[in-house]
Amino acid sequence: MRPFHVLFIGDVVGHVGLQEVLRQLPELVRKYTADVTIVNGENIVDGKGLSDKEANELFAAGVHCITTGNHVWDNWKSRPLLKENPHVLRPYNYPQENPGRGWSLITLPDQRQIGVLQIQGRVYMQPIDDPFKAADHAIARLASHTKIIITDFHADASAEKIAMGWYLDGRVSAVIGTHTHIQTADARILPKRTAYISDVGMSGPYDSVIGLKKEIALKRLMLQTAHKYENATDDVRVCGAHVVIDADTGRALSIEAFSSPPPITTVVTQ
Ligand SMILES: [Fe+2]
Ligand SMILES: [Fe+2]
Repeated sequence: MRPFHVLFIGDVVGHVGLQEVLRQLPELVRKYTADVTIVNGENIVDGKGLSDKEANELFAAGVHCITTGNHVWDNWKSRPLLKENPHVLRPYNYPQENPGRGWSLITLPDQRQIGVLQIQGRVYMQPIDDPFKAADHAIARLASHTKIIITDFHADASAEKIAMGWYLDGRVSAVIGTHTHIQTADARILPKRTAYISDVGMSGPYDSVIGLKKEIALKRLMLQTAHKYENATDDVRVCGAHVVIDADTGRALSIEAFSSPPPITTVVTQ
């Protein structure tokens, strides 16, 4: 059977990030022969969540599932969306009285099914429910439907992220880190064939401090007071990962992180 190809796009920041994702998506889907596309949308509206409008634009462009994270709760318009759309996820281990779901089952036109799970870390973040126990609970349910399970682990500390990678190795197809907006150089296949990366990076303006205008970020850090969030607008890139999975076993075959366009790392001088 042909391997299963997953395109995962990291935290979309601002409408400039959304427009660039929408612009590049057809080419990325073609390039990576993606069977399923997952996008983290926790920062689309001024860094805070997303509404129906942005979600509908992504779904109309062919996205199958939108994951979010801690900033989705900052946008009141996200809550009805989380409640009503089973393919817009919030981390599963938030207290269950909150609206929304933490996992979903996507059925493709050829009837293949893929599970998507989102959990959130607790180190340097809100002390929500145990993400490890939450993952056990969701995987037990998803595994009765499909062997292909993609996990978005929305967390800050790299130690907590790789710990989750080891915990889920062999039980899910991929553990993909989001939230820090900085792509890590540690994509690998763990021994029991789970694809892993600590963070896939941001899809948004890189002439910034993780999406925020540099001047505002510096004021916040240097003055230690609140300053209004404003998205940066320049050097917009789409970052993510392409994961290839054995369709029969659900085990990962490869993972490749990408930045489109790539960052400038060398300046050629005369
Ligand atoms: Fe984010
Ligand atoms: Fe986040």
